[in-house]
Amino acid sequence: MQTDDIRDDVREVLFTEQQLRERLAEIAREIEAEYADEPPLLVGVLKGAVVVVSDLARELRLPVHMDWMAVSSYGSGTTSSGVVRILKDLDADITGRRVLIVEDIIDSGLTLSWLKANLESRGPASVDICTLFRKPARLKSDIELKFVGFDVPDEFVVGYGLDYDERYRNLRDLVVLQPHVYAPAEA
Ligand code: XMP
Ligand code: MG
Repeated sequence: MQTDDIRDDVREVLFTEQQLRERLAEIAREIEAEYADEPPLLVGVLKGAVVVVSDLARELRLPVHMDWMAVSSYGSGTTSSGVVRILKDLDADITGRRVLIVEDIIDSGLTLSWLKANLESRGPASVDICTLFRKPARLKSDIELKFVGFDVPDEFVVGYGLDYDERYRNLRDLVVLQPHVYAPAEA
């Protein structure tokens, strides 16, 4: 059963808010070096990346632009198939621009491989990927990830924008939930 205080459902904190912010600050310095000549368009992937984009963008001293895409990958439950549908496309025309896709977590990498190829077909100057979390045990694609925050174990994680059934996105830390959260309610 779920409780009213989302913190009560946490089994283990993998990364604290402060660790996440510190790592994002390091990544921000790498991004500033890479894009010194031409600030990138940050493309956040809704909804999970909202928190990452908002913290990363405010760490950056470059005059970045921000845009958003929403995609759904056909797959069952918590796994994705790589077959993707665009639910919300970019507002911006990316022709000739440098694009940095910002993701919360890469699991199989199939969704992002598709998204990267889709954006590359629009004639941008470059398309690269920044992800705060990566599950190395599950990567199925050889997609290049230019900026990676942390590797996480092959467990379902939530918080810092990531959800289980749309809950827990507003937890400040990245956590693993108690098993009872996933258990069906007793009759
Ligand atoms: P692929 O497999 O295409 O999928 O890389 C990436 C998407 O899968 C979701 N995902 C998770 N969401 N906790 C979550 O809240 C997780 O541990 C997790 N693993 C994968 C997420 O939507 C991501 O964009
Ligand atoms: Mg997601």
